[in-house]
Amino acid sequence: MGSRRPRALPGALALLLALGLRGPEAAARSAPDPGFREDYFPQLLDHFNFERFGNRTFPQRFLVSERFWRRGAGPLFFYTGNEGDVWTFANNSGFILELAARRAALVVFAEHRYYGKSLPFGERSAQRGRLELLTVEQALADFARLLQALRRDLGAEDVPAVAFGGSYGGMLAAYMRMKYPHLVAGALAASAPVVSVAGLGDPHQFFRDVSADFEAQSPKCAQAVRDAFQQIRDLFLQGAQDTVSRLFGTCQRLSGEKDLAQLFGFARNAFTMLAMMDYPYPTDFMGRLPANPVKVACGLLLSESQRIPGLRALAGLVYNSSGTEPCYDIYLQYQACADPTGCSLGPDAKAWDYQACTEMSMTFSSNNETDLFPALPFTEQHRQQYCLDTWGVWPRQDWLHTSFGGADLRAASNIIFSNGDLDPWAGGGIRKSLSASVLAVTIRGGAHHLDLRGSHPADPPSVLEARQLEAALIDQWVEEARRAQQSL
Ligand SMILES: *[C@@H]1O[C@H](CO)[C@@H](O)[C@H](O)[C@H]1NC(C)=O
Ligand SMILES: *[C@@H]1O[C@H](CO)[C@@H](O)[C@H](O)[C@H]1NC(C)=O
Ligand SMILES: *[C@@H]1O[C@H](CO)[C@@H](O)[C@H](O)[C@H]1NC(C)=O
Ligand SMILES: *[C@@H]1O[C@H](CO)[C@@H](O)[C@H](O)[C@H]1NC(C)=O
Repeated sequence: MGSRRPRALPGALALLLALGLRGPEAAARSAPDPGFREDYFPQLLDHFNFERFGNRTFPQRFLVSERFWRRGAGPLFFYTGNEGDVWTFANNSGFILELAARRAALVVFAEHRYYGKSLPFGERSAQRGRLELLTVEQALADFARLLQALRRDLGAEDVPAVAFGGSYGGMLAAYMRMKYPHLVAGALAASAPVVSVAGLGDPHQFFRDVSADFEAQSPKCAQAVRDAFQQIRDLFLQGAQDTVSRLFGTCQRLSGEKDLAQLFGFARNAFTMLAMMDYPYPTDFMGRLPANPVKVACGLLLSESQRIPGLRALAGLVYNSSGTEPCYDIYLQYQACADPTGCSLGPDAKAWDYQACTEMSMTFSSNNETDLFPALPFTEQHRQQYCLDTWGVWPRQDWLHTSFGGADLRAASNIIFSNGDLDPWAGGGIRKSLSASVLAVTIRGGAHHLDLRGSHPADPPSVLEARQLEAALIDQWVEEARRAQQSL
């Protein structure tokens, strides 16, 4: 199966980009069409055990584009896929394609095992008892083997590769450079929360920074959020749950503490999504959102005369973007899980929940003090109990830190950690350069890995600068790798 999109004129587009022509005439989707070929690689089930699964393999999906590649000249750009369908990342990482067009690069997007169509045990892969092969280490080994096999098959043995990734994929890109420095010359790790997800840092940072985006939008908006949550709580205490159901538009009749916590989690998650996806133009990444969704959300909230209907309207940006939800099914549309920043539905969400129960620590709490949200604690104890009940596993809170070093990455090299200051994940990442080649880049006015997206007329200047710097460093890594190879 391959992508059947019409062929574009990459030469002309690449020329336009090289000339730096921008502005409204540049199409909003200025990323050139890479003409991806979708393919599968027979990947080893278990890289770290020679007996249990022996040589057994599963089909790992990847996308490859040779359209821009000039043999003997261009590098290889390798996206380390994260927790979802690989096309989602390929469709939302226009920067990589634009740069590939300019640098005549070969492009690969690799899907992460247990996500999308890369399922070790077929449709049953997300069932309890079948997730034992889902670890960061296995995923990195998959990428390493796939990269080497592709180099061989495409006649690209000596081509320097650069790893790219956003969010968890950004963590993987950085780890790829750390664990397999002979395979990738460097890594662009965009919005990679390598510190917080290693269980380090302040558990209140995440929701504090979500709140800060709404405070910055307007103090009045922030106060309205507090008021809405307080009114819900007060009505519950007065036994007026039906009033809350009616004003907020829930499908179910609400009653006890459990429903209140679910409603709070459901509502808080809308803020998380809006803050992460606060891009300056409409997007369809983790749901369809308008340009500047935080601003739009505050407008909706404040345009209602009552706070609870205002909160309902705000939540609608995330949960009712189709405009066809007659009511909110707060148990279906939001799943509480081991990731308090939200789990969706389906097998990908289950696999992510398992990762949040094993290596990835996301014990983030809101407290109604340093943030705008009701106190919803999610401590290591909560996590342990949940993970034991759900997956029969005990989280290893320290493992990621032990395995990859947390914030202490001075011994690493050739990694860019980029973060947008609007992104609540930024505070869990590397914010200061650690050495001459482990660099932190801050993007003012940037949400979750904005720099990986294709260029757009509404981009803030800071992201243009960041992409320029990233491109220059990537060129440098590729040059160094070429020189090092020649001297071998
Ligand atoms: C494992 O793979 C190798 C190389 O493909 C093959 O020669 C060997 O027979 C396989 N062994 C088993 C037990 O399947
Ligand atoms: C990616 O983009 C292609 C072409 O625009 C589209 O057909 C496909 O549905 C998209 N896939 C995802 C997962 O976004
Ligand atoms: C979803 O949007 C539609 C159209 O605007 C509206 O009629 C409906 O009440 C909304 N659903 C909720 C739960 O607010
Ligand atoms: C948040 O704290 C304030 C001040 O202590 C309190 O009045 C309010 O009820 C709290 N809100 C919620 C939703 O718990």
